[in-house]
Amino acid sequence: MPAAERHGRGQYFTPLELISFVLGLCPDPDGLVMDPACGSGRFLLAASARWGCPVRGYETDAGALEVARAQVDGEVIGDDFVSAEGRGDVSLIVGNPPYVRRRGAKRDLYVDFVERAAAHLRPGGRLALVLSNAWMDTSYGEVIRSLLLRDYAIEWIVEGSGENWFPGAKVRTVVVVARLGAGGDRVRFGSVAELSGGVDLLRAVDQGAMRGDEAWGPYLRAPDLWFSSREGMQPLGQFAEIRRGFTTNDNGFFYPPADSGIEERCLEPLLKGPKRVPGALFSAEEVRDRVFLCPEDPPPPGAAAWIGDREAWTLRAQEPARLFLLKGYHRTFRQPMCTTPIHYDQQIYGVYPRAGVSLDWLARSLNSPWTQLDLEMAGRVNFGDGVLWLALNDARHKLRLPAEPLEHEAEIAAAAAAATERRLRLAK
Ligand SMILES: C[S@@+](CC[C@H](N)C(=O)[O-])C[C@H]1O[C@@H](n2cnc3c(N)ncnc32)[C@H](O)[C@@H]1O
Repeated sequence: MPAAERHGRGQYFTPLELISFVLGLCPDPDGLVMDPACGSGRFLLAASARWGCPVRGYETDAGALEVARAQVDGEVIGDDFVSAEGRGDVSLIVGNPPYVRRRGAKRDLYVDFVERAAAHLRPGGRLALVLSNAWMDTSYGEVIRSLLLRDYAIEWIVEGSGENWFPGAKVRTVVVVARLGAGGDRVRFGSVAELSGGVDLLRAVDQGAMRGDEAWGPYLRAPDLWFSSREGMQPLGQFAEIRRGFTTNDNGFFYPPADSGIEERCLEPLLKGPKRVPGALFSAEEVRDRVFLCPEDPPPPGAAAWIGDREAWTLRAQEPARLFLLKGYHRTFRQPMCTTPIHYDQQIYGVYPRAGVSLDWLARSLNSPWTQLDLEMAGRVNFGDGVLWLALNDARHKLRLPAEPLEHEAEIAAAAAAATERRLRLAK
């Protein structure tokens, strides 16, 4: 099957070493094992070979279904698992449900698979699933975080710290093992370098202290120092208003070239993107880009010629800013400041101190090792290039700042550097 088609159907078959690793995290199910998206039946074959258990699978793809039925000695159902009626008779649900989205859906299909799992499990039954790690940090993943906390005792959340388990699929995955029923004690977060090796226990967290409305990625990514330091800190949004820059929908028109013929008074300096920032502290004269903001109507002749017969030629008003937070960053961490207020593009956030908050203090705080570390926890990674992206709401609510200077500055700096290195390594 061509790669694009395979991706559209979420058909990445799970490597056998990963299957064996997932099953190895589960005790003998002593009953029926089910894969809700069984593909050719790899998980089911491995489970029956390991435990001699009865198996059941669901699969919607006709080709995969045929292969599964030919290979698997058990019940293979050619139905959509998401709308299948649960029978409450399964001891262990295993598998690797599809990480694709149904047309118009706001979340990946695997979220529905996790939601539907409990209806199939018998009391005390387990699930052991390979899932995209996005549910750990995204707001749409809150459904999974909350239902795991409410209905399950979570036993393991394990990620790979080495090669991507699905080379070529631009997604990092985690393995979740959870037992249906209350009584969760400690959630073990682990990492595994080689699937044939053991799991390194990163931390064990009291399930009662975890929250569905918080991101869980930091349990895998953050040092203890991050958790202890952020206690008592306030979100950045309390110290400053964070705004998005210009969205022009036509940069070629609103950010004209030097020879546009537009009068100087209709052009203002513009911070166009992270790569165009002259330095950590810079002046507007050092900025090469310009934004077309015409203060006159009708426009002067040069501007009028540039506008031509275009109808919309004004941008939403923007108050220039002096301090900025980069929306995406790769390796070089710095949050730039201009000596005078300046306009900026949507690739950059403007930081406007609230009343009584010092701009210099904010600039120092946003450039501190603490913020570098906190950004690694609040941001999302872009695959391939490893760029860390910060969503506007995450900038406002997830990033936190200490009101007082932090102790352990050197350790925090080392942890921040390690977190950046780790991100760049894992994004490959
Ligand atoms: C990522 S593959 C995993 C296959 C297999 N479990 C494995 O690990 O090799 C996901 C499978 O789910 C199937 N699938 C997609 N949507 C489904 C649905 N609604 N119900 C059941 N299976 C579905 C796809 O056809 C695909 O074979």
